[in-house]
Amino acid sequence: MEAKVTVPAIRARKGGGKIAALTAYDYPTGWLVDRAGIEVILVGDSLASAVLGYPSTLPVTLGEMLSAVRAVRRGVRRALLVGDMPFGSYHGDPSRAVESAVAFLKAGAEAVKIEGGRKRAPLVRRFVENEIPVMGHIGLTPQSVHAMGGYRVQGKSQAEAEELVADAEAIESAGAFALVVEGVPAEVAGRITQTVSIPTIGIGAGPQCDGQILVLTDVLGLTVPAPPGDGHPFLPRFVRRYLDLRTAIADAIGRFADDVRRGRFPADEESYHATPETSAAERAALPARELA
Ligand code: KIV
Repeated sequence: MEAKVTVPAIRARKGGGKIAALTAYDYPTGWLVDRAGIEVILVGDSLASAVLGYPSTLPVTLGEMLSAVRAVRRGVRRALLVGDMPFGSYHGDPSRAVESAVAFLKAGAEAVKIEGGRKRAPLVRRFVENEIPVMGHIGLTPQSVHAMGGYRVQGKSQAEAEELVADAEAIESAGAFALVVEGVPAEVAGRITQTVSIPTIGIGAGPQCDGQILVLTDVLGLTVPAPPGDGHPFLPRFVRRYLDLRTAIADAIGRFADDVRRGRFPADEESYHATPETSAAERAALPARELA
């Protein structure tokens, strides 16, 4: 196994080769993403829409997130495991926010991610002072969907771009080890990347970031339409789908159902048979075919 990916190792990657990051939500996806050599695995609050069927990330609870972190933890050996703090778990009393972040580390995360720029800097500092490594997240922050008036690209005007650069600097100064930059023009993400000395991980933020992250179900073609609600985008333009698992799964299920209905499943070699040691009483209870 290659060396374990740690928080200091990711911080030190600035300018030293792109970082590949993906989300995971359970034991098998954690296992697969880790064994494929991804360096940072985020148990994203996209769990809400990607897996739990919520219309946005807002409803997912701390308990649901922690349960997903525990499952992913069991499958991950090498990657750095980051837990995404859900909406409401860090928005009120800072002491409660620290308690929630501690719960993530106890569940097996090695760092937490929180959304927001300058206004979140004091909380980032407080987490870091409490030995909780933090990944920041600025730009299109989905937990602010209502405040933003929808899932809109941020930083399009010069003034907005300046605000984002100031956000990035504040999160860096507060002690974050990396920064997710989501849904901003490539030029602005490039400027942020040049300004801060921590790695930027882009999603819908162009190619100049120090790394890239996508939602696993989008990459695998496993995304299904969200239930009606806040209008979470089905597949934003920044997604590249590497596989069409929806079609592959529908095809496999269809063939299974067909085999069952036509009596072609299970075959003889997929069935158990009685052995000579089977007791007389058991033999009497078994259908004739089993005794052949
Ligand atoms: O929840 C999530 O999946 C995220 C992204 C950055 C991918 O926050």
